[in-house]
Amino acid sequence: MMTKKPSDSILVGLDIGTTKVLAIVAEFNALGEMKIIGLGHQRAKGMKKGVISDIESTVQSIQRAVEEASLMANYDIGSVYVGIAGAHIHSINSLGVAPIKNGEVDEFDVRRVLEAARAMAVPSDHSILHVLPQDFTIDGQQGIQDPIGMSGVRMEVGVHVITGATSAAQNIMKCIRRCGLEANALVLEQIASSETVLSHDEKDLGVCMVDIGGGTTDIAVYHDGFIKHTAVIPIAGDHVTNDIAMAFNTPKTVAEEIKKRFGNVLVQLVDRDHEIEIASIGGRPPRKLKRWALAEVIEPRVDELLMMIQAELDRSGFLNLIGSGIVLTGGTSGLDGIVELAEEIFHLPVRRGMPDYQGNLEQSIRNPIFSTGVGLIKHGYARKNRKSLVLEEYSTEEKIGKSITGWVKSIFA
Ligand SMILES: Nc1ncnc2c1ncn2[C@@H]1O[C@H](COP(=O)(O)OP(=O)(O)OP(=O)(O)O)[C@@H](O)[C@H]1O
Ligand SMILES: [Mg+2]
Repeated sequence: MMTKKPSDSILVGLDIGTTKVLAIVAEFNALGEMKIIGLGHQRAKGMKKGVISDIESTVQSIQRAVEEASLMANYDIGSVYVGIAGAHIHSINSLGVAPIKNGEVDEFDVRRVLEAARAMAVPSDHSILHVLPQDFTIDGQQGIQDPIGMSGVRMEVGVHVITGATSAAQNIMKCIRRCGLEANALVLEQIASSETVLSHDEKDLGVCMVDIGGGTTDIAVYHDGFIKHTAVIPIAGDHVTNDIAMAFNTPKTVAEEIKKRFGNVLVQLVDRDHEIEIASIGGRPPRKLKRWALAEVIEPRVDELLMMIQAELDRSGFLNLIGSGIVLTGGTSGLDGIVELAEEIFHLPVRRGMPDYQGNLEQSIRNPIFSTGVGLIKHGYARKNRKSLVLEEYSTEEKIGKSITGWVKSIFA
């Protein structure tokens, strides 16, 4: 069979998570419908809390995942949309002001006002990853989404700027290149996940997306249709696994298994008599364990994490703006009882989100661990089709000016 050649209608997402590396190949038809044709899923080695800690091991994991996906899709993977996360990520809302040159807004004016908005002090070891416009104001009239062609003398724009450690971004690029691949774009993981699990209505009304993975909890807040806040908390499912391994003196692999099969976040929801059997360390015979005792270990850690999320929302001032509540995704959102506990803590509606995908491979894809991977593809598709409002700043080759021009063309074309 002949291998499919690089094609405009085929996009590849690469999610380098703390626990797994995922390569997803998707083909789009003329109607923009997505069909997933390849999937590579490998255990991540060399990642800590969302950041690459060992290049060699990460390269191997990526290579395997990409090969697997490439074989299944029968497609030669050349370039990928890749995610970035980690505690080094910072975000800030900023404002830009510029005069409108000829009384009517053109692309040049938009570029200038965006440049004014991103002209801020970024620590020397950080790079701008995204500049996300929120809304434009012309002569005091707020809430303009597409200013091109409008009359006025003075334009303002509010933007959400996301920065990350330059070294973390460079290490991702290094791994990608070592695998013989090219990165189309480096995308903040919660932006990708949000593309998969949030609806337009939720983003309008106000919503907080929380992707709880293995090493990091990635947060994104939307309101009035635009992104308002992002944050990363370096605590997630691996911490729960470690707690279980410590509490019951059992290997991490066993702790991970019983967490997924029997774990519950709310002690009060667990049958007091339900017993499970777990392996011990060092060849000792297996032991019996009450399921509620397991929940007793899980509950405080997840409770602590949810409280940290709440504190983050409170600090950022967006807690009162998320009318449609919280959407949980990522592997750890699969824990029984987590939705109930989150509702108790936030006093807001909480639901689980995962790729709402039907078709080829849907059995595998409809799982919250795939939200980022599918989102990377959706994000890539939206950008290619000039619908995305995200400006990718970080790039190894492109000059920033060029990417801004590309972006301006891309949203207003
Ligand atoms: N059904 C489940 N119940 C509870 N926990 C689960 C379940 N499935 C997966 N997990 C946990 O989810 C975590 C992995 O989730 P995910 O694949 O989203 O993380 P990741 O993308 O590798 O990491 P990160 O995004 O933090 O860098 C692990 O800690 C795993 O134990
Ligand atoms: Mg993840």
